[in-house]
Parts: sequence; C-alpha cells; structure tokens
Amino acid sequence: MAETRDVVELILQDHRRMEDLFHRMRSVEADRAAALREFADLLVAHALAEETKVYPALKRYENIDDDELDHGEEEHEEGNQALLDLLEVDEVGSAEWDEKLEELVKAITHHTDEEERTILNGARENVAMDRREELGGAFLEERARRLKESPGAADNVRRLVSS
Ligand SMILES: [Fe+2]
Ligand SMILES: [Fe+2]
Repeated sequence: MAETRDVVELILQDHRRMEDLFHRMRSVEADRAAALREFADLLVAHALAEETKVYPALKRYENIDDDELDHGEEEHEEGNQALLDLLEVDEVGSAEWDEKLEELVKAITHHTDEEERTILNGARENVAMDRREELGGAFLEERARRLKESPGAADNVRRLVSS
C-alpha cells in the first residue's frame, strides 16, 4: 500500500482492511477468531482516533456539516454495540455467531459508506492537502497509541458501550 499521510487516504485504507477482515470472518478456511480480534482492535482504535483527532478539526470548517460528524459518532456507538454482541457469543462460527457477524457487517458498512460520502468528501473539498497530512499524522499517532491497549477486548468494548 502506498505510503501516505493524507487523513482521507488513511481512513479509507482502514475501511478496506475492515472489509478484508469481514471476508476472513466469513470464511470457514480462515482463523475467524484471530480475524475478529484484529477487527475489534482496529475498529475501536480507528473510531476513537477519528473522534478525538479528525472530527473535532473538521467541525471548524464551515462547509463541513457538523450534523454529519455528530451522526458519525452515534454510528460509532452503534458499531461498538454490534461488535460487543458478536464478542459475547461463545462459539466462533456458530449460527448465532454468523448472525451477529452479519449485523456487525451491516452496521459498519452502513457507517463507512456514509462517512466516505459525507465526511470524507467534505474533507476532500474543503481541507488543503497540507492540513490533511497534519491531521493524518495526528490520526496515526492516536490510532497507534490506542492499538497498544488492546482496545477491542470485550471488557473495554463493554466499557465504551455503557459510558
Ligand atoms: Fe472511519
Ligand atoms: Fe467512523
């Protein structure tokens, strides 16, 4: 993957990685539990980095809709709940697990699709590239810091959901 610090590209790369992990979680030939662990850490670190480093900075732009940013945060909460529902199923690959996985895929795909069309297009149209790269640096740093704390562990996701 090309090295970039553009926050728009960095967010898109994570979204594509999430889609790859969905494919692995659906495959009986894959280590589905490992794919879920990686997905959970990535999802939580990604969303927290967006909420702390990217969304607040974009709120300062007049032509980027604040309601879209608030809505994005609500969808992060819905994503965390759907993730927790899957993490709480005991048997990986069971019928219940498959069902919760599809609910998670639906919630996350809806969010990433909407985020790309509203928030990221807003950034593309209104934020200069040097600022996009600055935000990308801040996003990466925060994301890396969060990833070290196993943010996708069930206990942590439970804490996020109930806060
Ligand atoms: Fe995102
Ligand atoms: Fe997001």
